Amino acid sequence: MGFFDFMTQEIAIDLGTANTLIIHNDKVVVDEPSIVAKDIILNKVVAIGKKAQQMHGKTHKTIETIRPLKDGVIADFSAAEQMIRGMIKMIPRRKSIFSPALKMVICIPSGITEVEKRAVKDSAEHAGAKEVFLIHEPMAAAIGIGVDVLEPKGNMIIDIGGGTSEIAVISLGGIVTDKSIRVAGDNFTTDIRIYMRNHHNIDIGERMAEKIKINVGAALQELEEPPANFAVHGRDLMSGIPKEIIVTYKEIARALDQTISQIEQAVLAALGQTPPELSADIYNTGIYLTGGGSMLRGLDKRISLKTKLPVYVAEDPLRAVARGTGIALKNTENFPFLIR
Ligand SMILES: Nc1ncnc2c1ncn2[C@@H]1O[C@H](COP(=O)(O)OP(=O)(O)OP(=O)(O)O)[C@@H](O)[C@H]1O
Ligand SMILES: [Mg+2]
Repeated sequence: MGFFDFMTQEIAIDLGTANTLIIHNDKVVVDEPSIVAKDIILNKVVAIGKKAQQMHGKTHKTIETIRPLKDGVIADFSAAEQMIRGMIKMIPRRKSIFSPALKMVICIPSGITEVEKRAVKDSAEHAGAKEVFLIHEPMAAAIGIGVDVLEPKGNMIIDIGGGTSEIAVISLGGIVTDKSIRVAGDNFTTDIRIYMRNHHNIDIGERMAEKIKINVGAALQELEEPPANFAVHGRDLMSGIPKEIIVTYKEIARALDQTISQIEQAVLAALGQTPPELSADIYNTGIYLTGGGSMLRGLDKRISLKTKLPVYVAEDPLRAVARGTGIALKNTENFPFLIR
């Protein structure tokens, strides 16, 4: 008897490279970083989510932290499965004597291969799901933002997550144009680490780079509301001694410039592949941004300058996909685009 036997029976999962969210009864019940910590000697998971994240970069020989997803897809099956199981266990549950079938809707990147799709389904089934539906991430994002995806009208959504940036034009319940690139928030973090090495001779960890991104990350060299400078801590590459340096958002904008250009190019390519009637709709409604990466300061403005279109960042962009996946869970009969 598994842990599913005690709880209700329908959940939606946004299985992300950076964060995994679970929706149950319309509420976000789990919101955790997609990380597991494993004891290598015992081959046992010792922590999941936030607890594992606190260990990330601070482990010793016997403990290893793993991010089971890379570039939006499962890179480490067994770790992914254990993570899904562990996160499902985190759902506050109501005791019940029934053991109903568990229905899951899980979102997947639109550029995913058949083999990768199978991997997600298998992991969910091994974790106890009886009925699994998959939904493409940009579709879930659009639904989460409140777009009527079944309408004969074009809407462009850009979801910039940790591992992938997905650009899609949706109309009549389908993805018409779709461009998925494996360049997103994680690349911003890596750019910052490389920049710090090359320009300040300082070696910083992934978590510090992430903090820099959140505190002084920027897509433009000129911001109307500039953030305060940020104190960076790391190890001096020459002396090996801990060191502090102060960075400005302008520097980070420079560090991220090329990666952001890659996203811009993908957006232009997607617009170029969009049929004219839908193009006309997008001209009128603009572009919606979601995903954690869309919170980078000035990114909306930068994309707007590049495309000459209005660009809007969704409300609560980190949760738009999860919200949409949750709505799909309640509409499995009405949404023909769900994949069984
Ligand atoms: N304020 C912020 N500014 C810039 N980036 C941010 C901010 N907050 C979070 N992020 C970044 O957003 C990313 C996570 O976003 P999100 O949770 O949407 O990704 P995900 O769904 O896990 O990934 P994917 O969809 O690619 O599988 C991380 O790279 C994180 O560093
Ligand atoms: Mg995502």
